[in-house]
Amino acid sequence: MPGSSPHLQGQTTHIVEKVGTPALMMNKRTIREKYQEFRDQFKGARVYYALKANPHPGIVQLLQELGCEFEISSLGELESLLQLKVPTQGIISGNPVKERAFVERAHVSGIDLFAFDSYAEIDKLAECAPGSRVTVRLTVPNDGSEWPLSNKFGVESEDAADLLVRASARGLRPVGITFHVGSQCTKAATWAKAIDKSRIVWELAADRGIQLHLLNVGGGFPIEYLRPVPSTAEIAEVIHESVARAFPGGVDLAIAPGRALVGEAGILAATVIAKAVRDSKPWIYLDVGVFNGLMESVGGIKYRILTPRDGPPIQCVLAGPSCDSFDVISTEAEVPHLEVGDRIHIMSAGAYTTAYASQFDGFHIPAIHYTE
Ligand SMILES: Cc1ncc(COP(=O)(O)O)c(C=O)c1O
Repeated sequence: MPGSSPHLQGQTTHIVEKVGTPALMMNKRTIREKYQEFRDQFKGARVYYALKANPHPGIVQLLQELGCEFEISSLGELESLLQLKVPTQGIISGNPVKERAFVERAHVSGIDLFAFDSYAEIDKLAECAPGSRVTVRLTVPNDGSEWPLSNKFGVESEDAADLLVRASARGLRPVGITFHVGSQCTKAATWAKAIDKSRIVWELAADRGIQLHLLNVGGGFPIEYLRPVPSTAEIAEVIHESVARAFPGGVDLAIAPGRALVGEAGILAATVIAKAVRDSKPWIYLDVGVFNGLMESVGGIKYRILTPRDGPPIQCVLAGPSCDSFDVISTEAEVPHLEVGDRIHIMSAGAYTTAYASQFDGFHIPAIHYTE
């Protein structure tokens, strides 16, 4: 299990004794290893870290030192990278829905690759970032994704080709296709389907005089929460085989992992602050909940929880601290009998936790600390 080595648990406990909870411990070695895994499995591809997963400056600095590039969506994300002196040649924007002020600032800062999926976005890019390189976002199946992204973005093949032609007519430079198979995608075959679909758009565009060369296969690489998931190597093999079959002439490949680069590096340390029995069911209340770190639990993400106690697991409701009944982390958690004051470790919590968190009801967002 990622993060469960006695050494790492020891480091976490030691820091938590000093800083208290809730606290998110990010392990630098795991991030380094994950980045190296992507580098090894995707030789020759550009690797862009999707900053939204966890934008903490320490993570940006570490990934930058390792040579990683960045995928961003907003002015806020851009400003934070500029502050950290990240070179803009290594930044792209994969969000097809962008604020005007962001596009303008990105363009003057030197960012030159944007995704789009609508005529309105083409107009915006043509006005605010004239001459930029652009990729069209394609809708693709999200089979096996535990956090699907399919409804909100993307266009079908014919529309994608029309949009690429229009982008070119507006003076933008259409260079490729981007897609996202949905976050925490546990089926490697879903990437194969998306790549086959990209091939159709590639040909439709070529028939209309647009030669593409870039294929961004996005994020979606899964991490281990409770169940084993396909490894990066297994998914990479499927992607490479599919690309070789669908694009015999080759493509410039890009990937944009978020969750997989940082998720397993995070241990969220929390404290049991209260207990109750309701309708004969035990309830355990933590100092971290849906609003201040565990938002993804409402979409079905289930975390492994390590506790200081042995004993048989008891089914209970695990809830956050706020006065809102929406603040329930799990209605069927299984943990040993716990007491108020016990410290627990929520595993694989490095992605989409503090990044989503608010201080609703006055509860703290977990501070981030680093372990080696
Ligand atoms: C455009 C884009 N790229 C990459 C990612 C990262 O996805 P994941 O964290 O599933 O790897 C996202 C996530 O929403 C995204 O919207």
